[in-house]
Amino acid sequence: MTQIKINKSDVFELKTDALVLGVFEKTEKFTGLVQQLDEVFQNKISSLYSENEIRGKLGEVTIIHNFVGFSAERLVIAGLGKIEEFDSDVVRKVSASVLNRLNGINLKQVSFSPIGADLLGIFNSAKSIVEGAILGLYRFEKYKSKPAGVSIKNVDLIGFTSVNEDQVQDAVNQGKIIAEAVNLSRDLSNEPSNKMTPSVLSEIATDIANKEDFEIEVFDEKDISNFGMGALIGVASGSVEKPKFIVLKYFGKDKKSSPLCFIGKGITFDSGGISLKPAQNMGDMKGDMAGGASVIAAIQAIAKLKLKINLVVIVPATENMPGGSAQKPGDVVTAMNGTNIEIDNTDAEGRLVLADAISYARKIGVSKIVDVATLTGAIRVALGTNYAGIFGNNDELTKNIIESGKIVGEKIWELPVDHDYDHQYKSQVADFKNTGGRDAGSITGAQFIGEFAGEIPWAHLDIAAISRTNSDKFYNRKGATGFAVRTMIQFALLFEI
Ligand code: BES
Ligand code: ZN
Ligand code: MN
Repeated sequence: MTQIKINKSDVFELKTDALVLGVFEKTEKFTGLVQQLDEVFQNKISSLYSENEIRGKLGEVTIIHNFVGFSAERLVIAGLGKIEEFDSDVVRKVSASVLNRLNGINLKQVSFSPIGADLLGIFNSAKSIVEGAILGLYRFEKYKSKPAGVSIKNVDLIGFTSVNEDQVQDAVNQGKIIAEAVNLSRDLSNEPSNKMTPSVLSEIATDIANKEDFEIEVFDEKDISNFGMGALIGVASGSVEKPKFIVLKYFGKDKKSSPLCFIGKGITFDSGGISLKPAQNMGDMKGDMAGGASVIAAIQAIAKLKLKINLVVIVPATENMPGGSAQKPGDVVTAMNGTNIEIDNTDAEGRLVLADAISYARKIGVSKIVDVATLTGAIRVALGTNYAGIFGNNDELTKNIIESGKIVGEKIWELPVDHDYDHQYKSQVADFKNTGGRDAGSITGAQFIGEFAGEIPWAHLDIAAISRTNSDKFYNRKGATGFAVRTMIQFALLFEI
């Protein structure tokens, strides 16, 4: 594990493998430490810049050696992109890009100057460097006999303490808690489904609750039946693995005040059930519990940050399998709130387990609900892989989540909820069917879930297209992204205290 610390040394006495500086694209003049070092080293940086060997483009990393009389072994010039497009997320991306590049040449210690601090403030600069470092150096190598690991053992922040050391220390602590939560979510989603069963997921959630000292209830199949959660039972019936209904409760203020509720889809493997999916990429469906992973990770961080909010996290966890006792198209199941649902397609299982989770949340009396789910392939057709979709019945809630996402660099775009779509999921034989046809697939999926939320403020994040990535890019690594963890934490921070 890489250690991240504040380093109070003087820049000119700093012993390190690399000192990282940031430069913008098309800048007329350097400022701060870059300017100072450029002068000391007789325009070495500015001449590379004027000869276009350094352009300052986002992600660009230039390594320069042999500074006589300087204790840092290397200067690393990181491109920050266009100044008009600069924000905290750029710092995260730069931190991750630089560290992965330097990891590639086996460096051990890397020191960051306060990149962008004059624009973002020292707190955001420090926090974003820390987050970018932890997220960018993430590896999932548990099942490699010879893990490659990372060479970088120490990341330190140099030149940050002139203003307020406590503030910088807070930034480092917060950045660590948040990024480690994202990595927890990634770990849970990257685990193969034979290792990350509903039972294992519930045990991990229990360990977290015990460690961070908040409440947890894990309901088993019998409890789930007794609750009348026919929709969840229906999905679970084709599997040998037993379902678990996981409820985590964190009280950061007066217990009498009604809690916020995050619900995460917890399908530990989605084969499609009897409406079996095609073989290609089916293995990715081990990550169909990414929403559940993200809400568990979010509550871990919120407890560690000791936020003064009350929060309930619910994860309905099950496999979706085509066993002999599996539910079948044409079956009718009854959700906890009494709604009868015709199963049109067993692969539309997410909305079924969420229907029962939302019914349960309403029964225990939460104030508002945000669900996070890898719900539809159609969201990728609508938005591609850069944005999550959001849907809801309450403009303020939706707006606040989008705003939270903006602050942390998670892009979220609203799609409509409109009664004119209702007829698409009306059933001939029951109250609803669990599909809405080809048109507007993500919207009808969302609206089906919304039927169970009723009047209570509710928002739904469809993360199906963004919960995994196929390439290493900036602070994401191939596999699970941990999307929504940072948005959820930011939402709790901003709007619930
Ligand atoms: N888990 C899938 C959605 C998904 C697709 C997640 C691709 C990640 C990547 C979900 O359960 C599903 O199968 N949805 C169906 C719904 C349809 C049958 C109405 C879909 O999108 O095809
Ligand atoms: Zn699914
Ligand atoms: Mn499915």
